[in-house]
Amino acid sequence: MSAKTAPETAEKTFTLTNDQSGQSWKLPVLQGTMGPDVIDIRSLYEEADIFTLDPAFTSTASCKSRITYIDGDNGILLHRGYHIRSLAEKGNFLEVAYLLLYGDLPNKTQYEEFRKNITYHTMVHEQLYFFYRGFRRDAHPMAIMCGVVGALAAFYHDSLDISDAKQREISAHRLIAKIPTLAAMAFKYSIGQPFVYPRNDLSFSENFLHMCFSVPAEPYKVNSILADAMDKIMILHADHEQNASTSTVRLAGSSQANPFACIAAGIASLWGPAHGGANQAVLEMLKEIGHKDRVPEFIQGVKDKKYRLMGFGHRVYKNFDPRATIMKETCDKVLAELGINDPLLELAMELEKIALSDPYFVERKLYPNVDFYSGIILKAMGFPVSMFTVLFAVARTVGWVSQWKEMMEEPANRIGRPRQLYTGAVTRDFVPMDKR
Ligand code: CMC
Repeated sequence: MSAKTAPETAEKTFTLTNDQSGQSWKLPVLQGTMGPDVIDIRSLYEEADIFTLDPAFTSTASCKSRITYIDGDNGILLHRGYHIRSLAEKGNFLEVAYLLLYGDLPNKTQYEEFRKNITYHTMVHEQLYFFYRGFRRDAHPMAIMCGVVGALAAFYHDSLDISDAKQREISAHRLIAKIPTLAAMAFKYSIGQPFVYPRNDLSFSENFLHMCFSVPAEPYKVNSILADAMDKIMILHADHEQNASTSTVRLAGSSQANPFACIAAGIASLWGPAHGGANQAVLEMLKEIGHKDRVPEFIQGVKDKKYRLMGFGHRVYKNFDPRATIMKETCDKVLAELGINDPLLELAMELEKIALSDPYFVERKLYPNVDFYSGIILKAMGFPVSMFTVLFAVARTVGWVSQWKEMMEEPANRIGRPRQLYTGAVTRDFVPMDKR
Protein backbone atom coordinates (compact mmCIF):
# COMPACT_ATOMS: atom_id res chain seq x y z
CA MET A 1 0.00 0.00 0.00
CA SER A 2 1.30 3.44 -0.93
CA ALA A 3 2.76 5.45 1.93
CA LYS A 4 1.35 8.64 0.43
CA THR A 5 0.36 11.22 3.03
CA ALA A 6 -2.29 13.89 2.67
CA PRO A 7 -0.83 17.37 1.99
CA GLU A 8 -1.16 19.68 4.99
CA THR A 9 -2.20 22.71 2.95
CA ALA A 10 -4.72 22.93 0.13
CA GLU A 11 -3.12 22.81 -3.31
CA LYS A 12 -6.39 23.37 -5.19
CA THR A 13 -9.32 25.74 -4.79
CA PHE A 14 -12.98 25.72 -5.70
CA THR A 15 -14.82 28.91 -6.56
CA LEU A 16 -18.39 29.38 -5.42
CA THR A 17 -20.35 32.14 -7.12
CA ASN A 18 -23.60 33.73 -6.02
CA ASP A 19 -25.58 34.01 -9.25
CA GLN A 20 -27.65 36.91 -7.89
CA SER A 21 -24.94 39.20 -6.54
CA GLY A 22 -22.09 37.96 -8.75
CA GLN A 23 -19.89 37.72 -5.63
CA SER A 24 -17.57 34.73 -5.47
CA TRP A 25 -15.55 32.92 -2.82
CA LYS A 26 -12.45 30.83 -3.31
CA LEU A 27 -12.60 27.75 -1.09
CA PRO A 28 -9.64 25.46 -0.34
CA VAL A 29 -9.90 21.93 -1.73
CA LEU A 30 -8.33 19.32 0.54
CA GLN A 31 -6.87 16.05 -0.69
CA GLY A 32 -6.77 12.80 1.21
CA THR A 33 -4.45 9.92 0.44
CA MET A 34 -7.29 8.25 -1.50
CA GLY A 35 -10.86 9.09 -2.38
CA PRO A 36 -12.57 12.25 -3.65
CA ASP A 37 -11.20 15.71 -2.87
CA VAL A 38 -13.07 17.69 -0.22
CA ILE A 39 -14.09 21.35 -0.43
CA ASP A 40 -13.30 22.99 2.89
CA ILE A 41 -16.37 25.12 3.64
CA ARG A 42 -15.49 25.94 7.24
CA SER A 43 -15.12 29.67 6.56
CA LEU A 44 -18.18 29.90 4.28
CA TYR A 45 -20.71 31.13 6.84
CA GLU A 46 -18.32 33.74 8.21
CA GLU A 47 -17.35 34.99 4.75
CA ALA A 48 -20.56 34.55 2.74
CA ASP A 49 -23.28 34.40 5.44
CA ILE A 50 -24.60 31.17 3.94
CA PHE A 51 -25.08 27.59 5.17
CA THR A 52 -24.95 24.33 3.19
CA LEU A 53 -27.71 21.70 3.43
CA ASP A 54 -26.92 17.97 3.51
CA PRO A 55 -29.23 16.27 6.05
CA ALA A 56 -28.19 12.67 5.32
CA PHE A 57 -24.50 13.62 4.80
CA THR A 58 -24.48 12.25 1.24
CA SER A 59 -21.85 14.78 0.14
CA THR A 60 -20.32 15.83 3.44
CA ALA A 61 -17.12 14.64 5.09
CA SER A 62 -17.74 15.10 8.81
CA CYS A 63 -14.11 14.63 9.87
CA LYS A 64 -10.60 13.68 8.78
CA SER A 65 -9.70 10.10 9.64
CA ARG A 66 -6.81 7.69 9.08
CA ILE A 67 -8.63 4.52 10.13
CA THR A 68 -10.91 3.11 7.41
CA TYR A 69 -11.27 3.71 3.69
CA ILE A 70 -14.16 2.61 1.48
CA ASP A 71 -14.27 2.76 -2.29
CA GLY A 72 -17.96 2.05 -2.76
CA ASP A 73 -17.86 1.94 -6.56
CA ASN A 74 -15.28 -0.82 -6.59
CA GLY A 75 -16.37 -2.68 -3.45
CA ILE A 76 -13.14 -2.00 -1.56
CA LEU A 77 -12.82 -1.77 2.23
CA LEU A 78 -9.45 -1.05 3.84
CA HIS A 79 -8.55 -0.77 7.51
CA ARG A 80 -5.36 1.26 7.96
CA GLY A 81 -4.54 0.30 4.35
CA TYR A 82 -5.16 -3.46 4.68
CA HIS A 83 -7.86 -5.15 2.59
CA ILE A 84 -10.70 -6.57 4.66
CA ARG A 85 -10.25 -9.97 3.00
CA SER A 86 -6.61 -10.27 4.03
CA LEU A 87 -7.47 -9.23 7.59
CA ALA A 88 -10.36 -11.73 7.77
CA GLU A 89 -8.30 -14.55 6.27
CA LYS A 90 -4.95 -13.98 7.95
CA GLY A 91 -5.61 -12.03 11.13
CA ASN A 92 -7.56 -12.53 14.32
CA PHE A 93 -10.01 -10.10 15.89
CA LEU A 94 -7.65 -8.79 18.57
CA GLU A 95 -4.95 -8.12 15.96
CA VAL A 96 -7.48 -6.14 13.94
CA ALA A 97 -8.61 -4.33 17.09
CA TYR A 98 -4.99 -3.34 17.77
CA LEU A 99 -4.60 -2.23 14.16
CA LEU A 100 -7.70 -0.02 14.31
CA LEU A 101 -6.74 1.48 17.66
CA TYR A 102 -3.03 2.04 17.16
CA GLY A 103 -2.56 2.22 13.38
CA ASP A 104 -0.29 -0.79 12.72
CA LEU A 105 -0.50 -4.55 13.08
CA PRO A 106 1.07 -5.58 16.38
CA ASN A 107 4.35 -7.49 16.58
CA LYS A 108 4.42 -10.51 18.91
CA THR A 109 5.32 -8.51 22.04
CA GLN A 110 2.76 -5.79 21.34
CA TYR A 111 0.11 -8.41 20.65
CA GLU A 112 0.81 -10.29 23.88
CA GLU A 113 0.67 -7.09 25.90
CA PHE A 114 -2.57 -5.99 24.23
CA ARG A 115 -4.14 -9.41 24.75
CA LYS A 116 -3.14 -9.26 28.42
CA ASN A 117 -4.60 -5.76 28.79
CA ILE A 118 -7.90 -6.77 27.20
CA THR A 119 -8.30 -10.03 29.09
CA TYR A 120 -7.40 -8.25 32.36
CA HIS A 121 -10.62 -6.25 31.94
CA THR A 122 -13.10 -8.94 30.82
CA MET A 123 -14.90 -9.21 34.17
CA VAL A 124 -17.54 -6.64 35.09
CA HIS A 125 -18.21 -5.14 38.51
CA GLU A 126 -20.26 -7.67 40.49
CA GLN A 127 -22.83 -4.97 41.29
CA LEU A 128 -23.68 -4.75 37.57
CA TYR A 129 -25.26 -8.17 37.83
CA PHE A 130 -28.13 -6.61 39.79
CA PHE A 131 -28.91 -4.23 36.93
CA TYR A 132 -29.97 -7.15 34.78
CA ARG A 133 -32.49 -8.29 37.34
CA GLY A 134 -34.28 -4.97 36.92
CA PHE A 135 -35.12 -5.84 33.31
CA ARG A 136 -38.01 -8.01 32.15
CA ARG A 137 -36.82 -11.39 30.90
CA ASP A 138 -38.32 -10.59 27.49
CA ALA A 139 -36.50 -7.24 27.20
CA HIS A 140 -34.74 -6.79 23.87
CA PRO A 141 -31.03 -7.35 24.58
CA MET A 142 -30.21 -4.12 22.69
CA ALA A 143 -32.37 -2.24 25.23
CA ILE A 144 -30.36 -3.89 28.00
CA MET A 145 -27.10 -3.01 26.25
CA CYS A 146 -28.04 0.68 25.91
CA GLY A 147 -28.65 0.77 29.66
CA VAL A 148 -25.77 -1.28 31.04
CA VAL A 149 -23.06 0.12 28.77
CA GLY A 150 -24.03 3.69 29.74
CA ALA A 151 -24.02 2.52 33.37
CA LEU A 152 -20.34 1.51 33.12
CA ALA A 153 -19.54 5.19 33.71
CA ALA A 154 -21.05 4.77 37.18
CA PHE A 155 -18.52 2.03 37.99
CA TYR A 156 -15.20 2.98 36.47
CA HIS A 157 -14.60 6.47 37.84
CA ASP A 158 -10.84 6.05 37.63
CA SER A 159 -10.82 6.19 33.80
CA LEU A 160 -13.27 9.01 33.11
CA ASP A 161 -10.82 11.90 32.74
CA ILE A 162 -10.87 12.28 28.97
CA SER A 163 -8.01 14.80 29.02
CA ASP A 164 -5.67 12.06 30.29
CA ALA A 165 -4.40 9.81 27.45
CA LYS A 166 -3.72 6.90 29.83
CA GLN A 167 -7.27 7.01 31.22
CA ARG A 168 -8.67 7.18 27.70
CA GLU A 169 -6.70 4.07 26.83
CA ILE A 170 -7.88 2.20 29.92
CA SER A 171 -11.50 3.08 29.07
CA ALA A 172 -10.94 1.90 25.50
CA HIS A 173 -9.58 -1.43 26.74
CA ARG A 174 -12.38 -1.77 29.27
CA LEU A 175 -15.05 -1.22 26.64
CA ILE A 176 -13.55 -3.74 24.18
CA ALA A 177 -13.13 -6.28 26.99
CA LYS A 178 -16.40 -5.83 28.89
CA ILE A 179 -18.96 -5.45 26.11
CA PRO A 180 -18.77 -9.16 25.15
CA THR A 181 -19.32 -10.06 28.81
CA LEU A 182 -22.32 -7.71 29.05
CA ALA A 183 -23.72 -9.03 25.74
CA ALA A 184 -23.42 -12.66 26.84
CA MET A 185 -25.10 -11.74 30.13
CA ALA A 186 -28.01 -10.15 28.23
CA PHE A 187 -28.39 -13.43 26.31
CA LYS A 188 -28.18 -15.62 29.42
CA TYR A 189 -30.67 -13.41 31.23
CA SER A 190 -33.18 -13.71 28.38
CA ILE A 191 -33.08 -17.52 28.47
CA GLY A 192 -33.08 -17.79 32.27
CA GLN A 193 -29.62 -19.36 32.57
CA PRO A 194 -26.93 -18.31 35.06
CA PHE A 195 -24.37 -15.75 33.94
CA VAL A 196 -21.05 -17.30 32.91
CA TYR A 197 -17.80 -15.61 33.94
CA PRO A 198 -15.20 -14.94 31.24
CA ARG A 199 -12.23 -17.26 30.76
CA ASN A 200 -9.01 -15.49 29.96
CA ASP A 201 -7.25 -18.61 28.67
CA LEU A 202 -9.57 -18.55 25.63
CA SER A 203 -9.34 -16.31 22.57
CA PHE A 204 -11.72 -13.33 22.27
CA SER A 205 -14.23 -15.25 20.16
CA GLU A 206 -13.86 -18.57 21.99
CA ASN A 207 -14.49 -16.77 25.27
CA PHE A 208 -17.56 -15.08 23.85
CA LEU A 209 -19.03 -18.41 22.71
CA HIS A 210 -18.13 -19.90 26.10
CA MET A 211 -19.96 -17.11 27.97
CA CYS A 212 -23.00 -17.51 25.69
CA PHE A 213 -23.31 -21.28 25.46
CA SER A 214 -21.67 -22.99 28.42
CA VAL A 215 -23.67 -23.97 31.50
CA PRO A 216 -22.38 -24.87 34.95
CA ALA A 217 -23.89 -28.37 34.78
CA GLU A 218 -21.52 -29.78 32.16
CA PRO A 219 -18.21 -29.11 30.41
CA TYR A 220 -18.35 -27.03 27.23
CA LYS A 221 -15.81 -27.42 24.47
CA VAL A 222 -15.67 -24.53 22.02
CA ASN A 223 -15.98 -25.76 18.42
CA SER A 224 -12.93 -24.35 16.60
CA ILE A 225 -14.79 -23.86 13.29
CA LEU A 226 -17.52 -21.88 15.04
CA ALA A 227 -14.94 -19.86 16.98
CA ASP A 228 -13.15 -19.11 13.73
CA ALA A 229 -16.46 -18.06 12.11
CA MET A 230 -17.26 -15.84 15.10
CA ASP A 231 -13.83 -14.23 14.80
CA LYS A 232 -14.50 -13.50 11.11
CA ILE A 233 -17.93 -12.05 11.92
CA MET A 234 -16.22 -9.81 14.49
CA ILE A 235 -13.53 -8.69 12.01
CA LEU A 236 -16.08 -8.00 9.26
CA HIS A 237 -18.11 -5.76 11.57
CA ALA A 238 -15.22 -4.08 13.40
CA ASP A 239 -15.32 -0.69 11.69
CA HIS A 240 -16.94 0.97 8.72
CA GLU A 241 -15.87 4.58 8.42
CA GLN A 242 -18.33 7.37 9.38
CA ASN A 243 -21.61 5.38 9.42
CA ALA A 244 -24.60 6.47 11.55
CA SER A 245 -23.51 4.88 14.84
CA THR A 246 -19.86 5.94 14.49
CA SER A 247 -20.92 9.48 13.68
CA THR A 248 -23.19 9.35 16.74
CA VAL A 249 -20.24 8.28 18.91
CA ARG A 250 -18.09 11.10 17.47
CA LEU A 251 -20.82 13.71 17.97
CA ALA A 252 -21.43 12.58 21.55
CA GLY A 253 -17.67 12.59 22.16
CA SER A 254 -17.29 16.07 20.70
CA SER A 255 -19.18 17.44 23.70
CA GLN A 256 -16.51 15.77 25.89
CA ALA A 257 -18.95 13.20 27.23
CA ASN A 258 -17.26 10.19 28.82
CA PRO A 259 -16.46 7.21 26.55
CA PHE A 260 -18.99 4.85 28.15
CA ALA A 261 -21.79 7.35 27.45
CA CYS A 262 -20.53 7.82 23.88
CA ILE A 263 -20.51 4.08 23.16
CA ALA A 264 -24.00 3.71 24.68
CA ALA A 265 -25.12 6.40 22.20
CA GLY A 266 -23.51 4.39 19.37
CA ILE A 267 -25.36 1.25 20.46
CA ALA A 268 -28.67 3.13 20.37
CA SER A 269 -27.96 4.38 16.86
CA LEU A 270 -26.90 0.93 15.65
CA TRP A 271 -30.19 -0.63 16.78
CA GLY A 272 -32.27 0.73 13.85
CA PRO A 273 -33.21 -1.66 11.00
CA ALA A 274 -31.58 0.61 8.39
CA HIS A 275 -28.25 0.05 10.21
CA GLY A 276 -27.21 -2.78 12.57
CA GLY A 277 -30.79 -3.92 13.14
CA ALA A 278 -30.87 -5.12 9.52
CA ASN A 279 -29.42 -8.55 10.41
CA GLN A 280 -32.46 -9.25 12.61
CA ALA A 281 -34.77 -7.78 9.95
CA VAL A 282 -33.27 -10.06 7.24
CA LEU A 283 -34.11 -13.20 9.14
CA GLU A 284 -37.59 -11.96 9.96
CA MET A 285 -38.07 -11.15 6.26
CA LEU A 286 -36.89 -14.62 5.16
CA LYS A 287 -39.27 -16.24 7.66
CA GLU A 288 -42.09 -14.02 6.43
CA ILE A 289 -41.46 -15.02 2.78
CA GLY A 290 -41.38 -18.63 3.96
CA HIS A 291 -40.84 -20.40 0.63
CA LYS A 292 -38.90 -19.97 -2.62
CA ASP A 293 -42.16 -19.86 -4.55
CA ARG A 294 -43.15 -16.64 -2.81
CA VAL A 295 -39.95 -14.80 -3.82
CA PRO A 296 -41.39 -13.25 -7.06
CA GLU A 297 -44.43 -11.93 -5.13
CA PHE A 298 -42.15 -10.50 -2.46
CA ILE A 299 -39.87 -8.86 -5.04
CA GLN A 300 -42.94 -7.27 -6.65
CA GLY A 301 -43.92 -5.86 -3.23
CA VAL A 302 -40.42 -4.35 -2.91
CA LYS A 303 -40.74 -2.75 -6.36
CA ASP A 304 -44.14 -1.38 -5.37
CA LYS A 305 -42.30 0.13 -2.40
CA LYS A 306 -44.48 -1.70 0.14
CA TYR A 307 -41.29 -2.80 1.92
CA ARG A 308 -37.52 -2.97 1.45
CA LEU A 309 -35.38 -5.95 0.70
CA MET A 310 -33.49 -6.09 3.97
CA GLY A 311 -29.77 -6.91 3.76
CA PHE A 312 -29.65 -5.23 0.36
CA GLY A 313 -28.36 -1.80 -0.58
CA HIS A 314 -25.82 0.46 1.02
CA ARG A 315 -25.25 4.19 1.12
CA VAL A 316 -21.62 3.80 0.10
CA TYR A 317 -21.30 0.48 -1.76
CA LYS A 318 -22.66 0.72 -5.27
CA ASN A 319 -21.03 -2.60 -6.06
CA PHE A 320 -20.71 -5.76 -3.96
CA ASP A 321 -20.14 -5.20 -0.26
CA PRO A 322 -16.80 -7.07 0.13
CA ARG A 323 -17.87 -8.15 3.62
CA ALA A 324 -20.95 -9.94 2.22
CA THR A 325 -18.83 -12.24 0.02
CA ILE A 326 -16.66 -13.33 2.96
CA MET A 327 -19.77 -13.70 5.12
CA LYS A 328 -21.36 -16.04 2.57
CA GLU A 329 -18.22 -18.23 2.51
CA THR A 330 -18.23 -18.31 6.33
CA CYS A 331 -21.92 -19.19 6.29
CA ASP A 332 -21.27 -22.20 4.02
CA LYS A 333 -18.52 -23.46 6.36
CA VAL A 334 -20.66 -23.13 9.50
CA LEU A 335 -23.67 -24.87 7.97
CA ALA A 336 -21.44 -27.69 6.69
CA GLU A 337 -19.77 -28.10 10.10
CA LEU A 338 -23.09 -28.23 11.91
CA GLY A 339 -24.68 -30.40 9.24
CA ILE A 340 -27.51 -27.91 8.90
CA ASN A 341 -29.50 -27.74 5.72
CA ASP A 342 -31.27 -24.48 6.41
CA PRO A 343 -34.10 -23.83 3.93
CA LEU A 344 -33.68 -20.13 4.77
CA LEU A 345 -30.24 -20.22 3.13
CA GLU A 346 -31.75 -21.67 -0.02
CA LEU A 347 -34.41 -18.97 0.11
CA ALA A 348 -31.78 -16.26 0.65
CA MET A 349 -29.82 -17.52 -2.37
CA GLU A 350 -32.92 -17.53 -4.54
CA LEU A 351 -33.77 -14.00 -3.39
CA GLU A 352 -30.20 -12.87 -4.11
CA LYS A 353 -30.24 -14.48 -7.57
CA ILE A 354 -33.53 -12.89 -8.60
CA ALA A 355 -32.67 -9.48 -7.14
CA LEU A 356 -29.25 -9.39 -8.83
CA SER A 357 -30.77 -9.96 -12.25
CA ASP A 358 -33.79 -7.70 -11.85
CA PRO A 359 -33.47 -4.24 -13.51
CA TYR A 360 -35.05 -2.54 -10.43
CA PHE A 361 -32.11 -3.61 -8.26
CA VAL A 362 -29.49 -3.42 -11.01
CA GLU A 363 -30.39 0.18 -11.93
CA ARG A 364 -30.31 1.25 -8.29
CA LYS A 365 -27.03 -0.63 -7.74
CA LEU A 366 -28.51 -2.63 -4.87
CA TYR A 367 -26.32 -5.56 -3.82
CA PRO A 368 -26.34 -7.81 -0.74
CA ASN A 369 -24.65 -6.16 2.24
CA VAL A 370 -22.88 -7.66 5.26
CA ASP A 371 -26.17 -8.35 7.02
CA PHE A 372 -27.67 -10.53 4.31
CA TYR A 373 -25.90 -13.72 5.42
CA SER A 374 -24.80 -13.00 9.00
CA GLY A 375 -28.22 -13.86 10.47
CA ILE A 376 -28.19 -17.33 8.90
CA ILE A 377 -24.80 -18.09 10.50
CA LEU A 378 -25.79 -16.71 13.88
CA LYS A 379 -29.05 -18.64 13.84
CA ALA A 380 -27.14 -21.84 13.03
CA MET A 381 -24.82 -21.15 15.97
CA GLY A 382 -27.82 -21.01 18.30
CA PHE A 383 -28.35 -17.26 18.75
CA PRO A 384 -31.93 -15.95 18.77
CA VAL A 385 -32.65 -13.15 16.26
CA SER A 386 -32.81 -10.56 19.04
CA MET A 387 -29.08 -11.16 19.71
CA PHE A 388 -27.93 -10.50 16.14
CA THR A 389 -27.58 -6.73 16.48
CA VAL A 390 -25.94 -7.19 19.88
CA LEU A 391 -23.19 -9.22 18.19
CA PHE A 392 -22.74 -6.40 15.70
CA ALA A 393 -22.38 -4.00 18.65
CA VAL A 394 -19.74 -6.22 20.30
CA ALA A 395 -17.61 -6.09 17.14
CA ARG A 396 -18.26 -2.44 16.27
CA THR A 397 -17.21 -1.32 19.76
CA VAL A 398 -13.63 -1.62 18.50
CA GLY A 399 -14.36 0.76 15.62
CA TRP A 400 -16.30 3.20 17.79
CA VAL A 401 -13.55 3.28 20.40
CA SER A 402 -10.83 3.72 17.74
CA GLN A 403 -12.70 6.57 16.07
CA TRP A 404 -13.40 8.20 19.44
CA LYS A 405 -9.71 7.85 20.41
CA GLU A 406 -8.62 9.39 17.10
CA MET A 407 -11.02 12.30 17.58
CA MET A 408 -9.87 12.93 21.16
CA GLU A 409 -6.24 13.01 20.01
CA GLU A 410 -7.05 15.70 17.44
CA PRO A 411 -5.91 19.07 18.89
CA ALA A 412 -8.51 21.02 16.92
CA ASN A 413 -11.40 18.96 18.27
CA ARG A 414 -14.48 21.20 18.75
CA ILE A 415 -18.05 20.38 19.67
CA GLY A 416 -20.07 19.22 16.65
CA ARG A 417 -22.87 21.71 16.09
CA PRO A 418 -24.76 21.44 12.79
CA ARG A 419 -26.96 24.32 11.68
CA GLN A 420 -30.34 24.14 9.93
CA LEU A 421 -32.56 25.53 7.23
CA TYR A 422 -35.33 27.00 9.38
CA THR A 423 -38.79 26.53 7.83
CA GLY A 424 -40.98 27.37 10.84
CA ALA A 425 -43.12 30.39 11.71
CA VAL A 426 -41.59 33.86 11.61
CA THR A 427 -41.74 36.08 14.71
CA ARG A 428 -45.21 36.11 16.29
CA ASP A 429 -46.73 38.02 19.21
CA PHE A 430 -47.87 35.98 22.21
CA VAL A 431 -51.69 35.73 22.30
CA PRO A 432 -53.28 35.24 25.76
CA MET A 433 -55.15 31.92 26.09
CA ASP A 434 -58.67 33.49 26.19
CA LYS A 435 -57.96 35.24 22.86
CA ARG A 436 -56.75 32.15 20.90
N1 CMC B 1 -34.79 -2.56 -0.97
C1 CMC B 1 -35.48 -1.95 -1.95
N2 CMC B 1 -35.17 -0.74 -2.45
C2 CMC B 1 -34.11 -0.13 -1.92
C3 CMC B 1 -33.34 -0.70 -0.89
C4 CMC B 1 -33.72 -1.97 -0.43
N3 CMC B 1 -33.03 -2.57 0.54
N4 CMC B 1 -32.36 0.14 -0.56
C5 CMC B 1 -32.51 1.22 -1.34
N5 CMC B 1 -33.57 1.04 -2.17
C6 CMC B 1 -34.03 1.95 -3.22
C7 CMC B 1 -34.86 3.09 -2.65
O1 CMC B 1 -36.22 2.77 -2.61
C8 CMC B 1 -34.53 4.18 -3.63
O2 CMC B 1 -35.28 3.97 -4.81
P1 CMC B 1 -35.90 5.22 -5.61
O3 CMC B 1 -34.74 5.92 -6.23
O4 CMC B 1 -36.83 4.61 -6.60
O5 CMC B 1 -36.60 6.06 -4.60
C9 CMC B 1 -33.06 3.94 -3.97
O6 CMC B 1 -32.87 2.54 -3.80
C10 CMC B 1 -32.09 4.69 -3.08
O7 CMC B 1 -32.44 4.42 -1.74
P2 CMC B 1 -32.06 5.35 -0.50
O8 CMC B 1 -32.98 5.06 0.62
O9 CMC B 1 -31.93 6.76 -0.96
O10 CMC B 1 -30.61 4.81 -0.19
P3 CMC B 1 -29.78 5.13 1.12
O11 CMC B 1 -28.38 5.21 0.71
O12 CMC B 1 -30.36 6.29 1.85
O13 CMC B 1 -30.04 3.84 2.04
C11 CMC B 1 -29.79 1.82 3.18
C12 CMC B 1 -29.09 2.90 2.37
C13 CMC B 1 -28.74 0.80 3.65
C14 CMC B 1 -30.43 2.45 4.44
C15 CMC B 1 -30.87 1.14 2.29
O14 CMC B 1 -30.26 0.52 1.18
C16 CMC B 1 -31.70 0.13 3.07
O15 CMC B 1 -32.69 0.52 3.70
N6 CMC B 1 -31.33 -1.18 3.02
C17 CMC B 1 -32.04 -2.18 3.79
C18 CMC B 1 -31.52 -2.17 5.22
C19 CMC B 1 -30.15 -2.77 5.34
O16 CMC B 1 -29.88 -3.85 4.82
N7 CMC B 1 -29.28 -2.09 6.10
C20 CMC B 1 -27.93 -2.57 6.40
C21 CMC B 1 -26.87 -1.74 5.76
S1 CMC B 1 -25.24 -2.52 5.86
C22 CMC B 1 -24.88 -2.63 7.54
C23 CMC B 1 -24.90 -1.33 8.27
O17 CMC B 1 -24.41 -0.32 7.76
O18 CMC B 1 -25.39 -1.31 9.39
